[in-house]
Amino acid sequence: MELKMDRIWHGGDYNPEQWLEFPDILEEDIVLLKKAKCNIVTLGVFSWSMLEPQEGNWQFDWLGKIIDRLWAEGISVILATPSGARPKWLADRYPQVLRCNEDGTRRFYGTRHNHCYTSPVYREKTAAIDRALSKRFGAHPAVKLWHISNELGGECFCPLCQEAFRNWLRDRYQSIDVLNRRWSTVFWSHVYDSFDQIEAPSSNGENQLHALKLDWKRFVTHQTADFLRSEIRAVRTYSNLPVTTNLMYYYRGLDYFKLSKEIDVVSWDTYPTWHKHSDAETALDNGMCHDLMRSLKGKPFLQMESSPSATNWQGVSKLKKPHLLAAQALQAVAHGSDGAMYFQIRQSRGSAEKFHGAVIDHYGGADTRVMHEVAQTGELLAKLGEIVGTRAVSEAVILYDWDSIWAMEDSQGPRNEGLHYTELLLHFYRALTRCGIGVDLKDEESLMQPGVLAKVRLLIIPMGYMFRCGFDRAVEAFVRDGGILITTFWSGIVDENDRCYLGGIPHGLTQVLGVRSSEIDGLYDWEHNVLVGRETDGERNEYECRYLCDLPVTTGLDEAMTGAHLHGKPDILLKYGKDFYQGMPALTRNICGSGEAWYLASHAGEKLYEDMLLRIAQEHRLGLVGRETGALLPNGLQVTQRAGNGWCYRFYQNFSEESVEVTLPGNEWEVIATEQWGEGVMEDAHSRIIPQYGFLICRKASGEA
Ligand code: GLA
Ligand code: ZN
Repeated sequence: MELKMDRIWHGGDYNPEQWLEFPDILEEDIVLLKKAKCNIVTLGVFSWSMLEPQEGNWQFDWLGKIIDRLWAEGISVILATPSGARPKWLADRYPQVLRCNEDGTRRFYGTRHNHCYTSPVYREKTAAIDRALSKRFGAHPAVKLWHISNELGGECFCPLCQEAFRNWLRDRYQSIDVLNRRWSTVFWSHVYDSFDQIEAPSSNGENQLHALKLDWKRFVTHQTADFLRSEIRAVRTYSNLPVTTNLMYYYRGLDYFKLSKEIDVVSWDTYPTWHKHSDAETALDNGMCHDLMRSLKGKPFLQMESSPSATNWQGVSKLKKPHLLAAQALQAVAHGSDGAMYFQIRQSRGSAEKFHGAVIDHYGGADTRVMHEVAQTGELLAKLGEIVGTRAVSEAVILYDWDSIWAMEDSQGPRNEGLHYTELLLHFYRALTRCGIGVDLKDEESLMQPGVLAKVRLLIIPMGYMFRCGFDRAVEAFVRDGGILITTFWSGIVDENDRCYLGGIPHGLTQVLGVRSSEIDGLYDWEHNVLVGRETDGERNEYECRYLCDLPVTTGLDEAMTGAHLHGKPDILLKYGKDFYQGMPALTRNICGSGEAWYLASHAGEKLYEDMLLRIAQEHRLGLVGRETGALLPNGLQVTQRAGNGWCYRFYQNFSEESVEVTLPGNEWEVIATEQWGEGVMEDAHSRIIPQYGFLICRKASGEA
């Protein structure tokens, strides 16, 4: 089901149930929402005990009145199901709705997200209230989207979940012998005789059988998706609106590629720690998360939540500095979101989030700094309605695969003190950003869909630990057909059951890359090595590297195996400068078919990725650097594009402390919005100084639909 939108959504989570005794405040909220230029609110996220104070006693009139009142003022509604937190009566009468810890003890009532997603009672009770909400509000013109539950996550180890896990394993493996083989249970004599013997992993029991732990994680995603489906079925009883569920920043507990198959629109909650490190770095990290969320479904998404100012659960509640609020909202849009929403509209008075940033604070007036910035942001977004529905432009893909990350982080070696995987991802992401190359993040299953890799120019596999069956062949075909591949150390190590590949790694790609990884050395935090280039004009490139040093050997020509026309000796661009592996290759490039395959053997500092991608972008005319600028973009500047409806839109945003000068590439570009507080200097028709947090949005006609 498609979400049809005619404007960029601006608004956020609103909890009128906390204010029902204060009708004046509720009325004032409408005035303030309009002053804040909000056009949408999310209702009902944690409203269960006010909607159903006793079992079966539905009290929906208060919600109905608020929805009508909002709609009369032109404010739309995203309606949530209340399953993220439950009333006390439900837990008291049906203890099975509460979660069990991994040692089997049942949790007490309290907090939120503390439910068993297998419990038939919990499913039945959520479905009952969801159906009632669907009947009452599912066709209300104000309601545009269902918001299922809230930030699904966590695990439950109750007997029902354990049984469901065993059934899931039965379906997956059919016979216990197959499971034993795939799980390598002979190791330490852990062979199972039947599926009935299997228990979920627990720190009290089996917690080193990697394949069991991996399958448990897969099962948690499967079961959560199943719970999500049961809620979706219920809200659809009387309504054909699209659905979303709000996802979280770097959440590792659920495979979001799988989960997002259930929903129509991806939405997520972003709480970057601005002003903690450099904002340029924070913006990179946030940009990468936006790109991941967009890539889950490959279409526009929603920034469902963000703080209008302080985020009270973080170590330090930092205020957002002036103009950052608009910059963050715009960053979401620039990366493909059609909404910029906040948590929370009105600041709660008591309990856990009373000091969390809000559009309307405890003072309650419109004359606040935050309110002013929210209103300005709303005005800006209102001007950008034509962008809604357009698609982000990207030429590169970074492999991002939950199964692989789960397995890699549990692998026991080669570096239990930290693999620094996210840091490596960000090195590549930073280099792509500085080259102005748009990127999607995709998992292996998405990349193996027919035709997907054919549209990709550059594929980056940073620590692609797990290769599913057939992935190596898909990557080989990609390279042979002209693609550019960058693979790093610790790739293609294990199969989908976390069993090591035999016969040479990266599995299936040793001929494509022209190298085989022979050993990998773990470095202590205080150690480093150096990667050294060839001497040209008396100078040589040198890059420090840390954490892991893979020792590649060149595979050379193997005519019998692969055909001499495909593979030659790789070009060795960098070698190790120290230790017993001094002189061994560390960065190689191999021509294969009409493409090329790079192998990076160690975790170098950021400059290496920038130099490598600059060269690739220039040689292959990729990104802004290859087609327009010829040089890296300044650090902190983000340039992204969206295209559709006959237009190409380009966003320039400056997250560095220094102003930056940008030059528009040609007369066909027309400026449609820019910050209002900067110098506003148009140095000549095509250059402009963009201050910190400033932006420039322009468009040009494009042939594409
Ligand atoms: C999450 C939740 C919200 C709220 C915010 C606070 O994203 O979904 O209900 O707790 O965090 O930052
Ligand atoms: Zn359970």
